[in-house]
Amino acid sequence: MKPRRFMPSGPLRGTIRVPGDKSISHRSIMLGALAVGETRVTGLLEGEDVLSTAAAMRAMGASVERLGDGEWSVQGVGVGALLQPQTPLDMGNSGTSTRLLMGLVASHPIMANFIGDASLSKRPMGRVIEPLSQMGAAFDASEGGRLPLTVRGALPAVPISYRLPVASAQVKSAVLLAGLNTPGITTVIEPVPTRDHSERMLRGFGADLSVEVESDGTRVIRLVGEAELKPQTIEVPGDPSSAAFFIVAALIVPGSELTIQNVGLNPTRAGIVEVLRQMGGKIEELNRREVGGEPVADLVVRHSALKGIAVDPAIAPSMIDEFPALFVAAALAEGTTVTTGLEELRVKESDRIAVMAAALTLAGARVTETEDGLTIHGTGGDLLRGTATAIATHLDHRIAMSMAVAGLACREGVEVDDTRPIATSFPIFEALLDGLAQ
Ligand code: S3P
Repeated sequence: MKPRRFMPSGPLRGTIRVPGDKSISHRSIMLGALAVGETRVTGLLEGEDVLSTAAAMRAMGASVERLGDGEWSVQGVGVGALLQPQTPLDMGNSGTSTRLLMGLVASHPIMANFIGDASLSKRPMGRVIEPLSQMGAAFDASEGGRLPLTVRGALPAVPISYRLPVASAQVKSAVLLAGLNTPGITTVIEPVPTRDHSERMLRGFGADLSVEVESDGTRVIRLVGEAELKPQTIEVPGDPSSAAFFIVAALIVPGSELTIQNVGLNPTRAGIVEVLRQMGGKIEELNRREVGGEPVADLVVRHSALKGIAVDPAIAPSMIDEFPALFVAAALAEGTTVTTGLEELRVKESDRIAVMAAALTLAGARVTETEDGLTIHGTGGDLLRGTATAIATHLDHRIAMSMAVAGLACREGVEVDDTRPIATSFPIFEALLDGLAQ
């Protein structure tokens, strides 16, 4: 455990740049490992989760090498040529590594053991076991479809048409990645759109993938299997999920004016910006451009008098990782913020509904937990009291960072029980915050 107290600060002013997008970083390594030849990546997130993916791809035959700061080279083995790993694949804290790699293994003639930390070992894998079993893979999982588990891939795997029962980009991606080495067409039907990095990147690597949008918004994604992927040069844009902590920090600390450069604003990820604007947040976009096939902008965020709102549950998938940060903003807003439709938050790195309710309550916020969300009565901008004892982060990086930001708006600050998990997604978070919050 590495506890730390985060104290109120002066205005946050200046310019920062957040590290590369986690979702895109994972996929860069995985797809690079399946292409024939060298993929070069810049701006790769060097967080523990992505390093777990890199180690796993090495264990299955790819060469994954760090050349410099965020600069990596991946020598792929080609679709169908992944090797049998000789030791268990340690996924650490990373659900994305686990679920996507289960998909890759599912259509290769290899067997892999997946293990992870206490948080990951509580998370449901049945959601990927179900479609991948339909494709022919065999699973031996711990009780409740959890880690540790063993996957035996099928050759040939069977193409399926799978309608997602939960709005999950990880499940979608697991099926598509399995489809890469499956003869015929693998189809994923997505009633509620989720982040589309897999689709964009598979196309970029030369896979034959089409997306049809039906009149009700349902997306039908078709991938032609036995694909040959061509190596790419990838520039990873900054992670909007990491930027979110600094956006909220600048909005709630009086006098702040913060520029956050190079923030990915893919519409399937940018819900937090829209919701904070609806709450009255002043967030300006400058220098809109494309980086690595994704829309990107520099954001200028100014301290704002936020107002509580009812958050439309339809926007949840496009900000699914940002609710802990939003809850902090809501605790400082004027009036009541109501969130609903967030059942998925209960199966993230922690139960983010229960854990944020407990943490914010300990800091003096007025929070009511419901089955599928939180109702938060904000202070109208007055500082919260803060915590006398440490809040429990339950090995969840986003709880630690959200409550660190809350500490900036608490008279007595916030004590976080363990800051180590921050390194899974945002190793330089504390350094950036300390550099601003003088
Ligand atoms: C991710 C998908 C989301 C998100 C996670 C990253 C991805 O998970 O919470 O941090 O890279 O595909 P779900 O698919 O479980 O919603």
